[in-house]
Amino acid sequence: MSKQASTSYPKERINILFLENISEKAVQQFKQNGYTNIRKLSGALSEEELIKEIKDVHLIGIRSKTLITKKVLDAATKLQAIGCFCIGVNQVDLKAATQKGVAVFNAPYSNTRSVAELVIGASVMLIRRIPDKNIAAHQGIWMKEAKGSYELRGKTLGLIGYGNIGSQVSVLAEALGMKVLFYDTETKLPLGNATAAKNMKEVLNNADIVSLHVPETPETKLLINKNAIKQMKPGAILINYARGEVVDLKALATALEEKQISGAAIDVFPWEPEKNGDHFESPMQGLKNVLLTPHIGGSTEEAQQNIGEDVSIKLFQYLERGITNGSHTVPAIGLPPIEGTHRILHIHHNVPGVLSAINTALSKNKINIVGQYLKTNEDIGYVVLDIEKKLSKTAIELLKSVKSTIKVRMLY
Ligand code: NAI
Repeated sequence: MSKQASTSYPKERINILFLENISEKAVQQFKQNGYTNIRKLSGALSEEELIKEIKDVHLIGIRSKTLITKKVLDAATKLQAIGCFCIGVNQVDLKAATQKGVAVFNAPYSNTRSVAELVIGASVMLIRRIPDKNIAAHQGIWMKEAKGSYELRGKTLGLIGYGNIGSQVSVLAEALGMKVLFYDTETKLPLGNATAAKNMKEVLNNADIVSLHVPETPETKLLINKNAIKQMKPGAILINYARGEVVDLKALATALEEKQISGAAIDVFPWEPEKNGDHFESPMQGLKNVLLTPHIGGSTEEAQQNIGEDVSIKLFQYLERGITNGSHTVPAIGLPPIEGTHRILHIHHNVPGVLSAINTALSKNKINIVGQYLKTNEDIGYVVLDIEKKLSKTAIELLKSVKSTIKVRMLY
């Protein structure tokens, strides 16, 4: 962040609470940027504990286990932003955060590459039938044979879902000489020589390996069921690194037992244990040429580091410049600073007339607006105002008294 853009509220007084052992790298980044008032706890806090702890907190950093409920947000009178140092934001009551004008950031794409690489790795392992040979070797059985082992080169990879991960897998697969056929409900630009299929059936009918990269939605629940599996090429392979609910595992287990398909890699399950060491059961256990992993598709050191960097940068941009790109609550605005001005942020309920009330209040007091940008969502509006320096204090007071105001903050 630029050195000129110092916050009106001293950085060292911005009260930061980091839970769930957020990476030391992120903590260091905050300290290097002048945010020294940091409390770091190793675990998550219960709702009751959070209500007590969050009162004076300006910024909270969490991972996936801390629930930020409406009650917590009601108690968080000073909270400006929540940094979810993880991929999802389901743990935050986004509606309540929106209504309170609290910006929520996460790192949705930090582990895209981790998943894509492992899908390719699993494809190689399965098409060579390595899981069985690996188990045999561990058991002291020599199983040297070429029968049933193939190369990826020249085979067709079928991708269902061509978003961030699907399209990365596509690029890596083509580099290995595979043909890529994909289906996505949205129109997507094919990368490289990949081909868009008209429907999912076309992918299932033609792919040697089918890999799923769709989100969990009512439409994708049991998307790969008995009928869909029947549409796959005999001897094909199925990979699911997306979400557990997408595949009917009983139907898949039957298809593997009956040798209708020749292998599967499953990383996500309809029910997953809460913590390491917990018991885990699946109809896929004990089947031939099956790789089972405990939802680690995106779990790499690199992804953790990317998450720390990505979320920290988004938080700095918001705290220091008012930039909300990537926020799930406050509408996204990205404006460069204007020389010689103070920047004021105004968050309000999205009702008609607020912008004109702001402009009337300022113009009546002869306050010149050098730059202004408004963006709204269903619930709230977000205005970034760049005001001539000499009158900015008066402007703050005027803006606080505008009807429907939720939050006003002067940045620099
Ligand atoms: P994304 O949102 O970038 O892409 C998903 C794509 O699926 C979109 O292009 C969407 O249009 C498409 N889609 C939605 N419904 C569809 C349908 N019925 N048929 C075909 N296409 C459909 O998501 P991203 O980042 O690529 O993630 C994909 C999946 O991978 C998600 O379920 C995510 O939760 C999961 N994931 C799993 C990880 C792991 O550790 N195993 C780590 C990261 C993500």
